[in-house]
Amino acid sequence: MAKAAARFVCQSCGASYTRWSGRCDNCGEWNTIVEELARESAPKGLSGKRGRHIELQPLTGKTPAEPRRASAIAEFDRVVGGGLVKGSALLIGGDPGIGKSTLVLQVAASLGRTGAAGGTIYISGEESIEQVRLRAQRMGLDRAPVSLAAATSLRDIAATLEAGAALELVIVDSIQTMYVDNLDSAPGTVAQVRASAAELIRLAKGRGFSLLLVGHVTKEGMIAGPRVLEHMVDTVLYFEGERSHQFRILRAVKNRFGPANEIGVFEMTDAGLMEVPNPSALFLAERHGEVSGATVFAGIEGSRPMLVEIQALLAPSPPGTPRRAVVGWDQARLAMVLAVLEARCGLALGGYDVYLNVAGGLRIGEPAADLAVAAALVSSRLDRPVPAGMVVFGEIGLGGEVRAVGQVEQRLKEAEKLGFTDALIPPLGNRRKGLASKLQLHPIDHLSKLVERFAQAARS
Ligand code: TYD
Ligand code: MG
Repeated sequence: MAKAAARFVCQSCGASYTRWSGRCDNCGEWNTIVEELARESAPKGLSGKRGRHIELQPLTGKTPAEPRRASAIAEFDRVVGGGLVKGSALLIGGDPGIGKSTLVLQVAASLGRTGAAGGTIYISGEESIEQVRLRAQRMGLDRAPVSLAAATSLRDIAATLEAGAALELVIVDSIQTMYVDNLDSAPGTVAQVRASAAELIRLAKGRGFSLLLVGHVTKEGMIAGPRVLEHMVDTVLYFEGERSHQFRILRAVKNRFGPANEIGVFEMTDAGLMEVPNPSALFLAERHGEVSGATVFAGIEGSRPMLVEIQALLAPSPPGTPRRAVVGWDQARLAMVLAVLEARCGLALGGYDVYLNVAGGLRIGEPAADLAVAAALVSSRLDRPVPAGMVVFGEIGLGGEVRAVGQVEQRLKEAEKLGFTDALIPPLGNRRKGLASKLQLHPIDHLSKLVERFAQAARS
């Protein structure tokens, strides 16, 4: 028999407990455990009615190609793997105010405009119809064939989606505002978010429309509550960027129907999001010639090479613990590069505050950025600029050795395209032969060689 039981559920990872505690043992988050009322029934086993026999199938067999619908927004389509797959569910997460609603509205409009097969519905649980209309007007999308609804009750939404003409895309903004009325917990709790999403996904599979769920992210960068959603949906996208900056990055972190880690770059303007087909040029647009502490890193994001500027500033620190502030890169990785510079290259850094910034609001995860970060740090410390025509990439090991990284040719090609003349890179070994590059290559095998280069430049 089902009974209403109080249980305590972590809003960040979904773990459930019988009593409240300040810290979740499962994910280690503080103050995320909230009481939720849920009907739980005791497990009963399988006694009683016999199940139906399932017909087993061979692994090989005829399968139709996944029908995909491109939205004609190239930066979006690439990230989702070429277009939206019929019946699939996508989750798009991001900080409040980053531009999720703007993006999904543009996708809906673009898809609606080219759509012949079915309708496009945008359901907003956060804004009124008028607000959505006003936004669409401002972006010049008010003529697009998109149906709007302001609703939060899943019972009503399900009834609407189940009936009616064929549907191509349904957008739910945001999943945290939706509620299933036979659950006692409040909208936004793990139980509600899970139940609402499950219901919507079932509808999407049944009726064959693509479902785009919008979810907010909490402080730790997890989609609030909906981290429990990540395994329910087919594709998880994050929309990120600095709110004070105009660049926005759409990143696939999970994709059942395409490559993960692919990114799309947008620019937020007063008429909505604009695609940025050539991000390197844009990320480097604000460079001011040779400044000490600035290096251009030749990185790879998904399938695309991307040049970004890495800036470091070292300033003598007052007595006490020096500051280490990082934007767009991993704090622990910076600590490692600093330690290697001190221990293996004899560069004294202890008395300095260190600030590191990836220009343009991009977040870099590649270890290949190590050498570029080191170059920026050494350049700032010795007050010698990195030559303006030089790109840098390479991984650094704890011994100070510079390690090879992948996709060298692609990185060099992008640098060449943007007018760079030199590249500071890991040793090429026997890969050198096949490499055709007009750039002047400067392979180094140890970080101390980098420090030497700058020290020499300082002396001459
Ligand atoms: P929004 O899509 O509402 O963010 P989210 O849904 O992720 O919370 O976007 C909010 C921000 O975007 C808001 O601060 C204003 C800005 N913005 C523009 O700069 N230009 C525009 O055309 C639009 C629609 C929004
Ligand atoms: Mg929004």
